Amino acid sequence: MERTFIMLKPDAVQRGLVGEVIARFEKKGLKLVGMKLIQVDRALAEAHYAEHRGKGFFEPTVNYIMSSPVVAMVWQGKNGVALARELMGATNPANANPGSIRGMYGMDISRNIIHGSDSVTSAEREIALYFKPEDLVDYQKVGDEWLSE
Ligand code: PPS
Repeated sequence: MERTFIMLKPDAVQRGLVGEVIARFEKKGLKLVGMKLIQVDRALAEAHYAEHRGKGFFEPTVNYIMSSPVVAMVWQGKNGVALARELMGATNPANANPGSIRGMYGMDISRNIIHGSDSVTSAEREIALYFKPEDLVDYQKVGDEWLSE
C-alpha cells in the first residue's frame, strides 16, 4: 500500500469542487487517512515548491497556493501515487484527459485545482510537511476486501 499527498488548491475550494473531487478518490477505492483545511503560509508554500525555486512560475505558484485555504489530504491504496496522478490528469489542464479531474474542471496550468505527489519519495516529503504522524489514521474499511485479493 502506498500513501500519497493530495492538495485541493485554492481554486477547488473557492469553486466548490471539494466534495466532487473527494468523491472521485473514494469511488476509485483509495482510502482517506488524513485531511485538514488549512491556510498555507509563505514558509510552507516555499518549502512545498522548493524544487521549482528560480523558475518563472515559482513566485506566482507560491502566491496562488497562499491565496485562500486548501484541503490537504493523505490517500492510501495499491499504487496510490500513480493512481492518484491518473485520476488528476496532466499538470496542464489543457493537455489533461477529458475524463480526469483537471481535464473536467480546469482550464489553465496556473489554476489546476489539485496537487498530487509525483513519486513515493515526494509523497513522504510532502506528507511530513503538512501532517504529523499522529494526524494520520490507519483503519480497516468495509469493502477493502472487495478491491483486490
Ligand atoms: S516541471 O517544472 O515541468 O517539472 O513542473 P511539474 O513538476 O510538473 O510541476 C510544476 C508545478 O508548478 C505549477 N505551475 C507550473 N508549472 C509549469 N509551468 C507553469 N507555467 C506553471 N504554473 C504553475 C504546476 O501546476 C505544478 O504544481 P503542482 O502543485 O505540482 O501540480
